[in-house]
Amino acid sequence: MTDRHRIALTVNGRPCEAEVESRRLLVDFLREDLGLKGAHIGCEHGVCGTCTVLMNGESIRSCITLAVQANGSSILTVEGLAGDGRLHPLQEAFWDHQALQCGYCTPGMLLRAHELLQENPRPTAAQVRAAIASNLCRCTGYQFIVEAVLDAARRLEAGATGQGHEPAASRT
Ligand code: FES
Ligand code: FES
Repeated sequence: MTDRHRIALTVNGRPCEAEVESRRLLVDFLREDLGLKGAHIGCEHGVCGTCTVLMNGESIRSCITLAVQANGSSILTVEGLAGDGRLHPLQEAFWDHQALQCGYCTPGMLLRAHELLQENPRPTAAQVRAAIASNLCRCTGYQFIVEAVLDAARRLEAGATGQGHEPAASRT
C-alpha cells in the first residue's frame, strides 16, 4: 500500500497543494512535480549545497528533506528570486562579476547569499566566505562569488531592485 500525504505549502509566493509519497524528496517534488529545475541535484547526501532552497527564510538541503516536511512552509527557489521581469540584485552582481562558470552551484549559492544578506546586510568578505562555505563550487575559486555578494550588498543598500539584465525566460 502506498503511503501518501496531502501537503499544502507556498512556493515562490504561490500557494501549492499536492499529494506526495512519504518518501518523496523535496528536491524531486520541486523539480519533477512543480517543474522548478533551479534546485540542482549533486551529491544527494547533503554535502555539496547545490540543492539549497530557503524554507521559511532558512537555507536547507532539499536532497535530504522530505516533501512532507515542507508542509505548511514557505519555500523560495532561485526561480522566485527574480521579479517583475528583473533579475534580483544578487543575480545582477553574479552576472557582472562573472561569479559562475558551469553554473551548477549557482542557484544554491544565490539562495545561501540571499539568506546571508537578509540576516546581515553589510557582511565582510570573511563573513561571506564563512556563509558560502556550505556550498561547494568546483569552478570559480570562490573569489568572484565573494566579490559579487559584497557588491550585491552595496546595491541593495543603495536601493537597487535589479535592472539591466532580464531573466532568461523574458528574453526573446
Ligand atoms: S545535492 Fe543536496 S547537498 Fe548535494
Ligand atoms: S560555477 Fe561550476 S560549480 Fe560553481
